[in-house]
Amino acid sequence: MSRRIFIAGNWKMNLLLVEALELVGKLKEQLRDVKAVDIAVCPSSVYVQQVAKSLSDSNIGVGAQNVYYREKGAFTGEVSTGMLIDVGVKYVILGHSERRHILNETNEDVNLKTQAVLASGLTPIVCVGELLAEREAGTTELVIKSQIESAFVNVAAADMKKCVIAYEPVWAIGTGKVATPDQAEEVHLFIRNLIEKKYGKDIAESVRIQYGGSVNDENAKEILAKPNVDGALVGGASLKVEPFVKIVKSAL
Ligand code: 13P
Repeated sequence: MSRRIFIAGNWKMNLLLVEALELVGKLKEQLRDVKAVDIAVCPSSVYVQQVAKSLSDSNIGVGAQNVYYREKGAFTGEVSTGMLIDVGVKYVILGHSERRHILNETNEDVNLKTQAVLASGLTPIVCVGELLAEREAGTTELVIKSQIESAFVNVAAADMKKCVIAYEPVWAIGTGKVATPDQAEEVHLFIRNLIEKKYGKDIAESVRIQYGGSVNDENAKEILAKPNVDGALVGGASLKVEPFVKIVKSAL
């Protein structure tokens, strides 16, 4: 089964509007001919509308970095799936390690958000990943298993098929310490086997699993060549035109 490679840029809390629009203007231009790879950028929620507008005539989709799981109401500071759809968003990153570890998001929050995003028709990019201490203690698989199993509680098979998972070892995020292609492949295969156990082979084979953590234009090709690595969730290297374009093109 062949899965389309999916490269997404997670801008995190970076870039002001002029910088964001300049970046997407150039990306749109330089990635115009790329047909075989799915591409997205995930700006701050303040700018998703303008970025989506600028990319509306392009092959680059727009994702949000977070969402709340309720449809509307008294939830000061939160944004709903309906609002994101309204302004042209297609994907939502959920359970990023910075949200889990800095903003105390729990496995249960991630599950509620995953269910809400799927119900809305948006595509979730569900992030999982172990801390350095957990890897060193030999508990990587336990941590990943619990994050994956809880993220997809009450998610039906037809919806699971639409999910994207991002494996982002926390020790590799923003550290320049990328997982080796073999380390990434090992966890990706482990995740795919977990999905297979619950949903069967066909669905497990169709779910895309991105790798994230210090991906750049020099290491992307080797990581993306692994059979169970179906794309990348890129942080720092997605903030500039040249490295992001090179990462996308290294998947061709
Ligand atoms: P870096 O690519 O900056 O390590 O960030 C990865 C990440 O967290 C993407 O979501």
